[in-house]
Amino acid sequence: MTDNIQDKVVVITGASSGLGAETARHLVKAGARVALGARRLDRLQALAKELGEANATAFQVDVTDRQQVQAFVDHAAKTFGRLDVMINNAGLMPLAPLEMLRFDEWNQCIDVNIKGVLWGIAAALPHFKAQKSGHFINVSSVAGHTISAGGAIYSATKYSVRVISEALRKEVKPYGIRTTVLSPGAVDTELPASVGAPGVNQAIADYYQHNAIPADSFARCVLFAMSQPDNVDINEILFRPTVQEL
Ligand SMILES: NC(=O)c1ccc[n+]([C@@H]2O[C@H](COP(=O)([O-])OP(=O)(O)OC[C@H]3O[C@@H](n4cnc5c(N)ncnc54)[C@H](OP(=O)(O)O)[C@@H]3O)[C@@H](O)[C@H]2O)c1
Repeated sequence: MTDNIQDKVVVITGASSGLGAETARHLVKAGARVALGARRLDRLQALAKELGEANATAFQVDVTDRQQVQAFVDHAAKTFGRLDVMINNAGLMPLAPLEMLRFDEWNQCIDVNIKGVLWGIAAALPHFKAQKSGHFINVSSVAGHTISAGGAIYSATKYSVRVISEALRKEVKPYGIRTTVLSPGAVDTELPASVGAPGVNQAIADYYQHNAIPADSFARCVLFAMSQPDNVDINEILFRPTVQEL
């Protein structure tokens, strides 16, 4: 599980909590070095301290801003001397029926979940092309495979992650770059807090409380995809809590 991870440099967006933070812990334990990005710098700095300054660097970034994402990725490459994996993980899940017309949430969800991934790809791709190696891990969701009432915008963004990743996979063949889409079901993180719609938020919080599995489930999938030999490209991982029907 930890082959091919030692000394790799991994950039993680959305590393201030949940799946990103837990993955950083697993990666450092396996010998990787991590660049941690998100808006809450205090959280990132505390995590970097926990992981050790030789292994982790914290960088404040809003993934909706292309220049900030470029600065983050360039900072990682400069700090650690190379770039091996870009995990486009930052995201939010503002579930709500369309008729609630929560326009600000629609905008933010599209900007973070789709454009944030695009900016991450744009920032890391030149580094990967120059090295003729690299690995994109883009985070979709079960909602990128199934559509529920109340999930129009979120599912649209997570289907988009899969669409973008599949085109990317085909385009980067000449450069030896790998592409993985990782689609979790309900995992215990702060994600339910991004549901703002009255009524929906309580239902989602209750569902997560009773069904969500720990974040190390996701981290293990990242390490599985990364640890394959360079000529093995794990393109899709979809996993759920065993009890999850949706
Ligand atoms: N947990 C699940 O059940 C589940 C299921 C399927 C898919 N996912 C996906 O997994 C990914 C990680 O979510 P999570 O479950 O770990 O939730 P989380 O604990 O809420 O983490 C979300 C992360 O995204 C960051 N983020 C949000 N907006 C950002 C922005 N504008 N710029 C930079 N960072 C931003 C947050 O950091 P700041 O607030 O500090 O910026 C935080 O670190 C998301 O893409 C989510 O859609 C999660």
